[in-house]
Amino acid sequence: MSDLKVGLAGLGTVGAAVLRMLARQEAEIAARTGRRIKVVAVAARDRAKDRGVDLSQVAWFDDPVALAREGEIDVFVELMGGEGDPAKAAVAAALDAGRSVVTANKALLARCGVELARRAEATGAALLFEAAVAGGIPVVKTLREAMEGNRLVRVSGILNGTCNYILTRMADEKLSFGVCLSEAQRLGYAEADPTFDIDGFDTAHKLALLTSLAFGTRVDAEAIYVEGIRQLTLEDLDAADDLGYKVKLLGVAVRTDAGIEQRVHPTMVPKHWPLAQVAGVTNAVALDGDAVDLTLVGPGAGGDATASAVVADLAEMARGARPFAFGMPAELLLPAERAPMQRHEGGYYIR
Ligand code: NDP
Ligand code: HSE
Repeated sequence: MSDLKVGLAGLGTVGAAVLRMLARQEAEIAARTGRRIKVVAVAARDRAKDRGVDLSQVAWFDDPVALAREGEIDVFVELMGGEGDPAKAAVAAALDAGRSVVTANKALLARCGVELARRAEATGAALLFEAAVAGGIPVVKTLREAMEGNRLVRVSGILNGTCNYILTRMADEKLSFGVCLSEAQRLGYAEADPTFDIDGFDTAHKLALLTSLAFGTRVDAEAIYVEGIRQLTLEDLDAADDLGYKVKLLGVAVRTDAGIEQRVHPTMVPKHWPLAQVAGVTNAVALDGDAVDLTLVGPGAGGDATASAVVADLAEMARGARPFAFGMPAELLLPAERAPMQRHEGGYYIR
């Protein structure tokens, strides 16, 4: 049995959880895929930091780009985060060298996804990113592999665990916004810069990826209307509750006559709707096709949930799968459209 040799850059919340999960599941995954997944080299900033994982058998790189370009690896896993370098340079270096990449970095993909997909296609490498959207929910694979028979009409849902955690605890326990955000950070849910979460940009990054996969358009977060939850108060949530609603931060992409309308904003959801029951760090993604409507619900952030998606991508690589990053060759993706927002006079509504 041959090894799939992995270089892993980023040993934080997600990276350390990936190492623990691979150690736990090694034999099982090898039996299922026919290859052992072996992390042979790692990169992070601080070599002395105790991460609760055994790094004695792996090579250490201070420079993630050098690991991506020169490491003796088959696959490069990018779990550092950040939309620029070194994440971008490292992913590009790996792809240019014909090494497949697994990443959870939605900020990077929302900015450079099409460029990186082209690089992957040029060398025959794969670019997989299941963990970049909705943590442990396998929505990328569902869209890329299981919905081909459908013309997608609408993709929507709760895509940010931090915001849903904050809104749930504020509404249920009357805690302040700041306390809830600190707790989400302590639990490893929030981005390194939590303004990405609370101002809606992280949801927009994920929505941009879903829109591309669902509608065959180029990834373009700039085409999305974005409003976050920073301005919401306990009084707002109580008033919504009195009227029979829960407030949720939704990402919505809808096929309209004028193009694909994309928006991220707090939404009043009737309490009896299933979406209103989605609490805490849980995410939910509804895929509405002309043949099948389905909703996927599961943990949207956190080390183990996200590692589950990263490891699933590695298992896909071990099986030899080389799907197109966005489900089709990058050159066939259509320009992203900026359909005008449809807005109710009294606020937003769900269609
Ligand atoms: P962390 O901040 O916990 O970890 C980041 C890791 O990257 C750290 O080990 C850090 O090194 C390393 N790193 C950062 N900058 C550099 C650099 N310049 N050179 C080398 N190493 C570097 O982040 P997370 O694990 O939470 O997130 C990682 C990625 O996963 C991000 O793209 C995030 O958006 C995504 N993601 C996170 C989820 C979550 O729930 N946390 C869920 C889904 C996706 P050191 O430890 O030495 O400082
Ligand atoms: N910060 C993100 C969230 C991590 O809270 O959903 C998962 O992508």
